[in-house]
Amino acid sequence: MSWEKELDEILSKTEGEVFEKATLQSLWKLMSKGYISSFDFPISTGKEGNVFRAKRGDEFVAVKIYRINTSTFRNISKYLMYDSLYKVKKDRRSIIFAWAKKEFNTLKRLYDAGVRVPKPIANEGNVIVMEYIGDASQAAPLLKDAVLDDAEKIFCKLARYLRLMYRIGIVHADFSEYNVLIHNGEPVIIDVGQTVGSDNPMAMEFLKRDVKNITRFFRKYISIDEDTLFKYVVGDKDEIC
Ligand SMILES: Nc1ncnc2c1ncn2[C@@H]1O[C@H](COP(=O)(O)OP(=O)(O)O)[C@@H](O)[C@H]1O
Ligand SMILES: [Mg+2]
Repeated sequence: MSWEKELDEILSKTEGEVFEKATLQSLWKLMSKGYISSFDFPISTGKEGNVFRAKRGDEFVAVKIYRINTSTFRNISKYLMYDSLYKVKKDRRSIIFAWAKKEFNTLKRLYDAGVRVPKPIANEGNVIVMEYIGDASQAAPLLKDAVLDDAEKIFCKLARYLRLMYRIGIVHADFSEYNVLIHNGEPVIIDVGQTVGSDNPMAMEFLKRDVKNITRFFRKYISIDEDTLFKYVVGDKDEIC
């Protein structure tokens, strides 16, 4: 099937608004460079973007498309403002592009440091191509929906990832059971667009919230308190599990 036909099909499956000119151009570039060969189905249609399963040759990939028309872009600007790396023009398109690039670069930093995130593959405009987490029939479930065989093991891994992230200067800032996938019994952290540097004036507040969210979730399964986890993450305590 030609890529134009593929896109027509996707358009019929989702809101047309997403596929503005800039998005079509980005997808076209990614397809002509061979990063995407065809689209399968939408995995998620959220407030700030859509995620599709697609194919790159024989392998599955996940394609995250940030919306150009979004009222949440003001929120995005607020986060970007603190980030000296991302001095961008204040128009909506530039901000969304910078946002996508920021998520892509953060995925790279985390992946290289050994934090389990989807491996980043390519970024063009408001589109990111990354490793698909899931199997042939369906995408991996979110932590909130997954059946946990060993909750303690998953908690311990997430605690270690949070600590490693902090050590390389990154605070997730939207960490919860909604942004962790469970694949083959292992946690995979996603949605790293809104991360902030640990030197950000808001960093500690965000980290406390991240720690609180994940503690609240795992308290159903294991005995753990926020304070202990926070100390472990910032390096004031050596062991947690
Ligand atoms: N690499 C991936 N592989 C499989 N599913 C993914 C992947 N990335 C995201 N998803 C799915 O898409 C949803 C939305 O992605 P996310 O990055 O959390 O964006 P947002 O929450 O901003 O819409 C996730 O909840 C998850 O179900
Ligand atoms: Mg999310």
